[in-house]
Amino acid sequence: MGTVAKVVIAGGTGFVGRHVVTALQGRGARVVVVGRSPDAARARLGVEAVGWRDASGLAAAVTGAAAVLSFVGEPVLGRWTRRKKATIRASRVETTRALVAAMASAPAGARPAVFVSASAVGYYGLRAGREDAPVDETAPPGDDPLARICVAWEAAADEARALGVRVVRLRLGVVLGDGGFVAQVRPVARLGLFGPLGSGRQGFPWVSVEDVCGVVLRTLDDPDMDGAVNVTGPALCDQRRVVRAIGATLGRPTFLRVPAVAVRALFGEGANVALADTWVRPVRLERARHPFVHPTPEAAVAAALGRGRAPLSAGEPER
Ligand SMILES: NC(=O)c1ccc[n+]([C@@H]2O[C@H](COP(=O)([O-])OP(=O)(O)OC[C@H]3O[C@@H](n4cnc5c(N)ncnc54)[C@H](OP(=O)(O)O)[C@@H]3O)[C@@H](O)[C@H]2O)c1
Repeated sequence: MGTVAKVVIAGGTGFVGRHVVTALQGRGARVVVVGRSPDAARARLGVEAVGWRDASGLAAAVTGAAAVLSFVGEPVLGRWTRRKKATIRASRVETTRALVAAMASAPAGARPAVFVSASAVGYYGLRAGREDAPVDETAPPGDDPLARICVAWEAAADEARALGVRVVRLRLGVVLGDGGFVAQVRPVARLGLFGPLGSGRQGFPWVSVEDVCGVVLRTLDDPDMDGAVNVTGPALCDQRRVVRAIGATLGRPTFLRVPAVAVRALFGEGANVALADTWVRPVRLERARHPFVHPTPEAAVAAALGRGRAPLSAGEPER
């Protein structure tokens, strides 16, 4: 990627997207964010921005871009009403289609070299692999609603291949940082009321947000990064280990086990995501000898909770 390359990122206002925007700006990229509220994105992130409804603006943004990235999606945690389920799917599949349509409308010589689209380890299903036999990128998809959404989402991204664009589908694990899972459980953990969800022995595919950014930057330059890439930390661990790391970092107990039945009562189908048992290895990154900044969940949790994390930039809200 050239130092003043234009990079288009959908979902740049989100937890992961904000970090990726900062990493891209650190590389000197000219960042254009695509989202529902371009004015808010411009004001918050100091970037150029375009709205989903502005098809010609979107086509103009994508034309001549070195890369298009997408980190969009209605949050999956929470109660999965029929309406929420439809939004979870459409916010991923339809936005991906809109980005591919914008790439298609660009002249062949002015299309991005690479489309990096978020996906999730949920692709493999709510129960996938075992500690002694984790899944890699060649494993088949699962057959639950979230897995089916991931399949449709990845298929929509792959449509860009027909345009001569390299497509990278990042199967993200649970991203540990100053948003997402850690931000959700932090208030309860601070009160000493947090503990394993269910048995706690479920495989917990974690990754630090800094390592997600490192992988994203790599995918822009590394032509071997093509197709599905598991983005999980290099150490396999169960949920208990992450819960304990959060408690230890905050100096709070984590004895209280939240029974699966209570998690289900709270979140309905969304609870399945919290209770998932998924053992995943980032085999493609391991083969590429990708260096991880946070090789253990303890290091990632400490960084996520502000012990050793780079300070937030001015004006950035703590999430
Ligand atoms: N965080 C994780 O642990 C994790 C794990 C696995 C996979 N992922 C995937 O990675 C992507 C980014 O995750 P994240 O945690 O950064 O997400 P996030 O902060 O919850 O949201 C990302 C962005 O998506 C856009 N968005 C949200 N709801 C939408 C809707 N209903 N319709 C259209 N756009 C919507 C918003 O951008 P605007 O408001 O600017 O439009 C938002 O800033 C998601 O697709 C997620 O499924 C995340």
